[in-house]
Amino acid sequence: MDKNKLFITNTGKYLDDYINVIEKDDSNKKYDMVWNLISEPTIENKSLNEIYVNNFIEKIEYGNDFLRVMLYNFLQILKPDGILRLGCGEDFEQNKKIKAALKDYEFNNVEICKYDQTIYPAKTTKPPVKKGLSKLHLGCGTKYFEDWINIDNNSDNNIQKLDINFDLRNPLPFPENSIDYIFNEHFLEHLTVEESRRALLDFRRVLKPTGKIRIAVPGLEGVLNLYNDPNWKEAPVMKTFGFDKIIKTRAEMLNINFRAWGHKWLYDREELERRLKECGFGNIKFCKIRESSDPNLQNLETRDESDLIAEAEKIDFDNTFFTDAV
Ligand SMILES: C[S@@+](CC[C@H](N)C(=O)[O-])C[C@H]1O[C@@H](n2cnc3c(N)ncnc32)[C@H](O)[C@@H]1O
Repeated sequence: MDKNKLFITNTGKYLDDYINVIEKDDSNKKYDMVWNLISEPTIENKSLNEIYVNNFIEKIEYGNDFLRVMLYNFLQILKPDGILRLGCGEDFEQNKKIKAALKDYEFNNVEICKYDQTIYPAKTTKPPVKKGLSKLHLGCGTKYFEDWINIDNNSDNNIQKLDINFDLRNPLPFPENSIDYIFNEHFLEHLTVEESRRALLDFRRVLKPTGKIRIAVPGLEGVLNLYNDPNWKEAPVMKTFGFDKIIKTRAEMLNINFRAWGHKWLYDREELERRLKECGFGNIKFCKIRESSDPNLQNLETRDESDLIAEAEKIDFDNTFFTDAV
């Protein structure tokens, strides 16, 4: 008999009737599946009778986007009359927050009980939408924006504050048409051209029909201008990083820009515009640093060397034509 109940636990407890899920591979525990709860579930949509989360939910703060994405994922895989069962602790304040969150996220009949008794029937599958504008700051690095959802895979392991630790080469854990703004700075050039094409298509997917993206990268033109400048070593960007002391030749400078820091693909205006258009963005505007006609997109750049900045809007398009383009 196929199991249609999920048990999520970190304690090592194993329930025979359930598909037992743990967050991270652990050879000391018996489990059936590893799932971090915020990446896209590999379980079929609307297939589960029950999700039972034990000794876990109380550790998540309400308002944390992790909770939001997790509940959304649960709603996707639960049957419309499925049940979310939470083993809450006795922290009354925290339980109150969880209760409020579950109500926000369209779980009905919420009742908090002690220990493992709590049962939350999930009656609707309306996706959880954060109150106010939903804004994604992608590849945020150490630059945390307070009213944005800050996402990065923390590749250098140096990020102290992050909302979602996530590899942006995967589909974003948000429903389509749910996000108002996307911003990224010095991120896109870290993806191969194929990865960026898939990512841009997915960014478009999650944006609302009125949604906008702003992309800031180190532009190829600036790099080539530097190469052709007899006084290239005196340029502010060379001084900023102390490169004027380290880099000996213009060829070295050029190669570093293409290959160092994990750079995979550099853009000039023509290339960025082409890639955006191919991925269903229109009304493309090139902007000066920190300037925008949209107040939500003003003063976002954190780096003076962001010298190629584009804003674009989600438009209707048929992406089948570009399926094989690279
Ligand atoms: C040059 S840093 C820029 C960080 C920040 N935006 C800034 O301007 O300081 C590039 C960032 O992209 C992130 N990044 C690169 N590839 C990524 C991926 N596949 N998924 C998520 N983040 C990624 C890195 O972890 C890093 O924090």
